[in-house]
Amino acid sequence: MRDAQPSTIYLSDYRVPEFLIDSTSLSFELGEASSIVRSVLELRRNPESDIQDAPLQLHGTELELISLAIDGRRLGDDEWSQSGEQLTIANVPASFSLRCETRIRPQDNTSLEGLYKSSGMFCTQCEAEGFRKITYYLDRPDVMSVFTVEIIADQSRYPVLLSNGNLVATEQLPDGLHKTVWQDPFPKPAYLFALVAGKLSVVEDQFVTLSGRSVDLKIYVEEKDLDKCDHAMLSLKNAMRWDEEVYGREYDLDIFNIVAVDDFNMGAMENKSLNIFNTSCVLAKPETTTDAGFQRVEGVVAHEYFHNWSGNRVTCRDWFQLSLKEGFTVFRDAEFSSDMGSPTVKRVEDVTLLRTAQFAEDAGPMAHPIRPDSFIEISNFYTVTVYEKGAEVVRMIHTLLGPELFRKGSDLYFERHDGQAVTCEDFVLAMEDASGIDLKQFRNWYSQAGTPRLDISGRYDAQAQSYTLTVKQSCPATPGQAEKAPFHIPLALALIGEAGQLPLQLVDAEPNTETADNTELVLSVRQSEQSFVFSNIQEEPVPSLLRGFSAPVKLDFDYSRDQLLRLMRSDSDGFCRWDASQQLGLAEIKRAITAIAAGQEVCPDVEYINACRELLGDTSLDAAMVALMLQLPSEAYLAEIIHPVDVHGIHHAREALRKVLATALREELSACYSRCESDEEYAANAEQIARRSLKNTALSLLMLLNEEQFTALAIKQFENSGNMTDRLAALTYLVNSESNYKAKALQLFYQQWQHEPLVINQWFQVQAMCRLAGTLETVQGLMSHPAFDIRNPNKVRALIGAFCGQNGVNFHREDGAGYRFLADQVLVLNRSNPQIASRLLVPLTKWRKYLPAAQQLMRAELQRVLAEPELSSDVYEVVSKSLQ
Ligand code: PHE
Ligand code: ZN
Repeated sequence: MRDAQPSTIYLSDYRVPEFLIDSTSLSFELGEASSIVRSVLELRRNPESDIQDAPLQLHGTELELISLAIDGRRLGDDEWSQSGEQLTIANVPASFSLRCETRIRPQDNTSLEGLYKSSGMFCTQCEAEGFRKITYYLDRPDVMSVFTVEIIADQSRYPVLLSNGNLVATEQLPDGLHKTVWQDPFPKPAYLFALVAGKLSVVEDQFVTLSGRSVDLKIYVEEKDLDKCDHAMLSLKNAMRWDEEVYGREYDLDIFNIVAVDDFNMGAMENKSLNIFNTSCVLAKPETTTDAGFQRVEGVVAHEYFHNWSGNRVTCRDWFQLSLKEGFTVFRDAEFSSDMGSPTVKRVEDVTLLRTAQFAEDAGPMAHPIRPDSFIEISNFYTVTVYEKGAEVVRMIHTLLGPELFRKGSDLYFERHDGQAVTCEDFVLAMEDASGIDLKQFRNWYSQAGTPRLDISGRYDAQAQSYTLTVKQSCPATPGQAEKAPFHIPLALALIGEAGQLPLQLVDAEPNTETADNTELVLSVRQSEQSFVFSNIQEEPVPSLLRGFSAPVKLDFDYSRDQLLRLMRSDSDGFCRWDASQQLGLAEIKRAITAIAAGQEVCPDVEYINACRELLGDTSLDAAMVALMLQLPSEAYLAEIIHPVDVHGIHHAREALRKVLATALREELSACYSRCESDEEYAANAEQIARRSLKNTALSLLMLLNEEQFTALAIKQFENSGNMTDRLAALTYLVNSESNYKAKALQLFYQQWQHEPLVINQWFQVQAMCRLAGTLETVQGLMSHPAFDIRNPNKVRALIGAFCGQNGVNFHREDGAGYRFLADQVLVLNRSNPQIASRLLVPLTKWRKYLPAAQQLMRAELQRVLAEPELSSDVYEVVSKSLQ
């Protein structure tokens, strides 16, 4: 909780640290009531600081200080002072050894930051500023130190004691205690420190690196979860190989540990050689985990592993540079997942997340550049902007440089900065230096927030046989940034003729225009308005624009329905093909909204229905793509496009259209379902995942018909499938239907899986996301279910988060009860877990885009939260900015 008004921290105030810590020795005595932390820090003044007589100021919060000593001399109470998060020692020599002893209470730590207990085990989470909850320290990422860590604990309760680096000693101690000592040879910032103590079982494997070193791989879990580690282990080995092959990066220690914990604020954490994972991102087996769950495990395991280079060996100078490690690492894990599975599907999924969550963030009160220039609470900046848009920015560099020069750039970056704490600028400079490509204007992507808009128009001149594309760019104002300078935007395109892509000859090509082959190229858009002329074009083409989603922008081109149909049927770029289907779907939904408002029937364009029918019949297509193209744009995406947002109008129109489609395509959908059924053994491979996805898309549409036979199909699928993907899909459709089997289904499901918390989370989520009326009451009831626990972030996300963030019609109930419910929960969580509280609050912060009545109710709840006297800095920042 804050003592005073939380203050804002600015990037422009960055100063190098006044002291450095050459080595850090920690000793933990873990106890049931409290734990003792003893530290010895070898400190010296930083020769690069201009202030050579500064006092020593250490970070520390919620610590009980027992003693302090410098070079063996204990300090008197008048030799140090404390205020807020700072401990100040006025007079210190140029170099010295600081001993410090503190007491902490991990068992009372509900913030899940620092040292805390989860299901009986001790674990840590230090990023971003959690280390200061363990001991007094220079808790900033540009202070890097080598760590030696001693852990003492009861042997029977905590047989496994882990920290970073290599195990150098173990010892039995009197009174049933034991001790291990760990040494990490790589200097690291405190945020990468980790400690684990508990009763854990282990799955072991090995990996032989490129240069022939053998690495022990260990995944530590509770004994009951030993059967759910295979997929994570395989993913880890695949990721290690991939990073060698694609980036030339080898693992650097003899041991790599993963530990799974139940209570975790985020997905996982890349602590040096001791990654700590949310169980939801590491455990997987077919009976309990959906396809999406398997893919998430693969992606997160890889992500954390890739951080060993992009984050740990080369780390961030300060937290404004967070996207340096996160944007780059998300780009790396996306490319990995794409190589392991279906590239187009992965791209479409990522673009969907970007266009819904990230575009919304970039248009809302918390909009910030991928490198923010100020913050109140850094935990609020682990955002889709820093991560996903940050990854798009790295992807654009990759597109502008091409794969070879990009690799040259990343090699130079790692070589130049190994062992350093650096900035986004250092990354861009390495890319520039290695490639010789000028990224001066490109840097605007780092400093400017907001989603740029491209308005493109095309003009065909039959006489001159030329085609001219006129591109205008603009970017809306965001908080603190009224005017934006133009961005450097890579625009990948092709021109499609009757028989396919046309050869491209650009008149007056810029030097920076990369040609992939002669039918596809990447234009460098740099000006507010710019024209590109293609010569020798013998027919009026349909432009295929922003291929592969080459830039995180909103694109407007006035396509005719027929042009979109051509793209949807024949574009060779999977992303554009899918996007054309979405644009057609969007047009149909808009027409449905108008029709319903006028009391008319919803009747979609026949050509659109026919195109969907063709998709269902074409077995040569990737089933996953067909599934994606048959799904209409989500309500979340529509809320980004149709303003002001009428949640109920959008929902009803979309559902009505889905029902009409289902009616028209009844036979095809039914045949498609049967075709996709299979009894082969489950595998989480692209081909099977695609088939299940199409099968379940078909079933979800058929269920709208409310026919006995399709309900029976869903019940059969629910009762008989051996994998969670099909089972959960069937349960979802049943719960959203009028079928009176649903209560039984929910009960059966609970009974079967009550001992698997991750499955029970899915059970909560299915109910929280039910579109039918009365869901808020269901959710409120489930809050007192014995399996619910507000201290566990996964449960909060499954029940409260899913309801408020992914169930538009029910959250936006016209009486405002959904908003009130959210504000109530935020106020509760504000005390126990501020990070989760402020994340949960996000749906309310978007109040300005809804209809006036909703706006008023939402704003009133935000004001109620703001009036709470003891707001955490996390919640304070989000709520106050959203009311500004
Ligand atoms: N650094 C982690 C990741 O992206 C995320 C994280 C941030 C985890 C803060 C915990 C706390 O991989
Ligand atoms: Zn990360």
